[in-house]
Amino acid sequence: MKITVLNGSPKGELSITMQYVAYLAKIYPQHEFNILHIAQRLKRLEHDPAAFNKIIDQIRESDAVLWGFPLYILIVHAHYKRFIELIFERGVQAAFAGKYAAALSTSIHFFDHTAHNYIHAICDDLEMRFVDSFSPDMHDLLKEEGRKQLAQFGRQFLEAIENQIPTQRQYPPLIYREFSYQPELPSAPVATAGKKVVILHDASLADSNLATMVARCRSAFAGEVSVVNIHDLDMKSSCLGCLECGANYQCAYTGKDGYIAFYTSTVMTADVLVYAGQMVDRYLSARWKMFFDRIFFNTHTPVLAGKQVALVISGPLGQVPNLLEIFRGFFEFQGANLVGVVSDERGDSANLDRLLDHLMARALNYAQVGYLRPQTFLGEGGMKIFRDDIYGRLRMIFPADHRAYARMGLYKTFPQAELRTTLLNTFVVPMINLPPIRKKFDKLIKEQMVQPHKQVVAKA
Ligand SMILES: Cc1cc2nc3c(=O)[nH]c(=O)nc-3n(C[C@H](O)[C@H](O)[C@H](O)COP(=O)(O)O)c2cc1C
Repeated sequence: MKITVLNGSPKGELSITMQYVAYLAKIYPQHEFNILHIAQRLKRLEHDPAAFNKIIDQIRESDAVLWGFPLYILIVHAHYKRFIELIFERGVQAAFAGKYAAALSTSIHFFDHTAHNYIHAICDDLEMRFVDSFSPDMHDLLKEEGRKQLAQFGRQFLEAIENQIPTQRQYPPLIYREFSYQPELPSAPVATAGKKVVILHDASLADSNLATMVARCRSAFAGEVSVVNIHDLDMKSSCLGCLECGANYQCAYTGKDGYIAFYTSTVMTADVLVYAGQMVDRYLSARWKMFFDRIFFNTHTPVLAGKQVALVISGPLGQVPNLLEIFRGFFEFQGANLVGVVSDERGDSANLDRLLDHLMARALNYAQVGYLRPQTFLGEGGMKIFRDDIYGRLRMIFPADHRAYARMGLYKTFPQAELRTTLLNTFVVPMINLPPIRKKFDKLIKEQMVQPHKQVVAKA
């Protein structure tokens, strides 16, 4: 059988993910795995219709498609995202419809699930027959168990195609509503009072809902506000995956385009950040994705701590909970506070006026009072993955993160770094676990646990 592999790594031949594919090709030599370097060749595919059509013809002639990609900032690389947009823009979905599909990524498991949800949903939108997702750690191939499971995944995928197994759509098609936002209510601007407000957006049409929403957000503030269309930003390309940034946050693009200077001087110094975007398929635009990929010049060091973030989305956001999860995870890891989200998917114009005005006022107020919600599992769990990997196996590649994490006191959050916990676990826990003591302890546990909290409440 002919399997077309769509490589989402900007590193092309040097992709780690493609080694997983090469392994499958080697152990299943009776099948062809044809790797197409999509992310690395995106510019060519975008500007040379013949090159793009050649790819589509290859897909048409294949028995199945394997989406092979690395995780990039909680989803796929901007160039891969752009390729997906091109499929729809150029109306070539029929080449994919009815074909069996599977997804194989490599990552360090930081939001790999959101990337897989996205690709699966795209396969559903393309009416493909989605078989399975496989998301190993980037080093699993080096372990016997990792290779064993990879082989199983490959076998099941190949057998699914051979046996034409039944598959079911998991993500319903998106329903867009016809609605033109025309502000109705007079705005009552609130003074920025020394707080720096930055509105970032990607509206390409002046009369789009997004452009009108951005204008409404701007008019909610009295005082200076930076409004930046990210299409006007001097961004040459997306992240190359070269990892030159690891040692000292020096990106391959430093001094070569305007992104880093803009990000450090405008975004990293803001108090309130408004991200406004048009949904394109099940994410924002590839342009937005490029903007997010390029933040990797800061590698894994959070640089938005304490900032208030408002999201303003045009499109059926409520139908794609995955997108909100990506943003929640991203901003929580960054240490920012996601104030709220407004989209144009429901309500009339007056309603939207009120929602946008209120979101802007709330973001400003939170900036003034320093309100930061506690992180959820997304931020807590994500940061622990980074902490462990930067302390451990990734320190050699990312020493700048290591220095930053040490400075930020992140390594003090290792449980073994807490003296009190270590002493308790070493000397007290073995005693408590002696059966007669344990029996008494179990009876007291609820009361004991709530005591310190009660004391705080009593003192309040
Ligand atoms: C810019 C950038 C962003 C990344 N974002 C993520 C991420 O969000 N989650 C994750 O688990 N790994 C992330 N990674 C790690 C890569 O997904 C991982 O190293 C992968 O194995 C690289 O595969 P490749 O060699 O095929 O490109 C990122 C790496 C880079 C360079």
